[in-house]
Amino acid sequence: MAKTPANYVRACRLTVILYVYVAAVAVTARVLPLQLSLAAKIYDTSKYGILQLGNGLAQTPQMGWNSWNFFNCDIDEKVITETADALVTTGLAKLGYVYVNIDDCWSELARDSEGNMAPDSKAFPSGIKALADYVHSKGLKIGIYSDAGLFTCQVRPGSLKHEYDDAALFASWDIDYLKYDNCFNLGIDPQERYPPMRDALNATGRTIFYSLCEWGVNDPALWASKIGNSWRTTDDIEDTWESMTAIADINDKWAAYAGPGGWNDPDMLEVGNGGMTYQEYRAHFSIWALMKAPLIIGCDVRNMTTETHEILTNEEVIAVNQDPLGVQGRKVYTYGPDGCYQIWAGPLSEQRSVIALWNRCSKAATITAKWDAVGLEPSASFSVRDVWKHEYVSLSSTTSFSVQVEGHACEMYILAPATAASAT
Ligand SMILES: *[C@@H]1O[C@H](CO)[C@@H](O)[C@H](O)[C@H]1NC(C)=O
Ligand SMILES: *[C@@H]1O[C@H](CO)[C@@H](O)[C@H](O)[C@H]1NC(C)=O
Repeated sequence: MAKTPANYVRACRLTVILYVYVAAVAVTARVLPLQLSLAAKIYDTSKYGILQLGNGLAQTPQMGWNSWNFFNCDIDEKVITETADALVTTGLAKLGYVYVNIDDCWSELARDSEGNMAPDSKAFPSGIKALADYVHSKGLKIGIYSDAGLFTCQVRPGSLKHEYDDAALFASWDIDYLKYDNCFNLGIDPQERYPPMRDALNATGRTIFYSLCEWGVNDPALWASKIGNSWRTTDDIEDTWESMTAIADINDKWAAYAGPGGWNDPDMLEVGNGGMTYQEYRAHFSIWALMKAPLIIGCDVRNMTTETHEILTNEEVIAVNQDPLGVQGRKVYTYGPDGCYQIWAGPLSEQRSVIALWNRCSKAATITAKWDAVGLEPSASFSVRDVWKHEYVSLSSTTSFSVQVEGHACEMYILAPATAASAT
């Protein structure tokens, strides 16, 4: 494969990075920072990219907003336009949150006389095309929702057997993103129900992000990378610590299957919805970023607290999520009571790593990440940058890194080869 910048990024699997390490070491004769066999085992990416959708989207996880977690069915064109405005005025849009995604309940309860889906005439009197034009005028993209079944979950018309008509309608409205749900599916295998919409979207000639929402029932990581740009790996998230942690653990199992073009989706963010503490939301956002999960905001961005805004706009955490290497970080080591002292980690571009020290106990504790547990050579020296405090906490650490972590909190750091940090 020719090493053009574009396909270099796509081919950026660990093997490529390891090659860079070997080459660098040969030149400089320094200590090899990554333990080759160990790291390759911890951060297995061998199952990624066997089959690809190939519509050019999702080179990094998608970012944006979705109406469901906060508004449920209580949506209208005012909420959507004000949200688009707020994404811009709060600074979220310029950080990458560009998709404005309308979830269930946008349509009438029945198709119109011509068999087309129709927007709810009370909630969306101007129609979806006008809304799309407005969202696009703000420099944002617009997403819509349908279902690979007879009805959506809120019993609006589904797209099963209507894929080509519905995709053509969405394209005529200049839609950029489709979330495709799994209700009323008649028990038909998802591997039969999801590809027709892929083909129908493709046939429109409009590039549309295809987000599979199959809830992880049939282990979509095993087959969905040739069908969608992302696939839900779990049930719907709830705005609780228990739900968020359980979902993180389920999504973690499929890490080897994610990569540029197709991502595991542990569902949308609950940050800012009130059911978790500040530290729990910070942990939620940190781990979603590290897992290369889609960052789809689920709160009312027109009315965020300072803390919610601070979490969602943390550029260093967003950069972990959007890192071009595109390797899903994962839970690499646990110890302590019920294994609640957890180390999550992943490789990043430029020979860096991200590590999260997550205290899933309710009492504060000192958590230690040993270099060998995260795939690094124990004698190698790394700078340690705290991405929440926005400062280097060490310019040269060897063997391990320890920190006191509050109950349910998650501290996150970027490790870079020490010489690289001291040069900057
Ligand atoms: C349709 O699919 C082909 C093959 O994967 C791809 O090259 C093309 O970009 C797709 N077109 C659209 C509009 O998604
Ligand atoms: C804004 O959010 C607060 C809670 O953070 C809530 O009490 C208030 O009603 C909200 N205001 C609006 C206009 O939605």
